[in-house]
Amino acid sequence: MITITIEDRDGSRQDLEVPEDINLSLMELLKAAEYDILATCGGMALCATCHVQVNEGLNQLEEASDMEMDMLDTLPDAGPDSRLACQIRVNNSLDGLKIRILGVN
Ligand code: FES
Repeated sequence: MITITIEDRDGSRQDLEVPEDINLSLMELLKAAEYDILATCGGMALCATCHVQVNEGLNQLEEASDMEMDMLDTLPDAGPDSRLACQIRVNNSLDGLKIRILGVN
């Protein structure tokens, strides 16, 4: 099991315990855990409603693709710690990750 800490838009925090072989994107995991993520594009890096800020563990993640970077560039509230949750695969390298949900809902 790995632990990912999620901070919702209202500031509430929860530690999610996840099997590392769950084979989901972080966006799919957030939706499965009943967070309010629109994911209008279905995970294609096109809608940015799965925008998250990575508070801890950014360097544990694989680098963002050009497509993800281009989409993040269009967001006024994106910063250097921003990622699209649909572009992150959940695996054991994510253990200890802390994120905050920012995408519009
Ligand atoms: S779900 Fe649309 S960009 Fe991630």
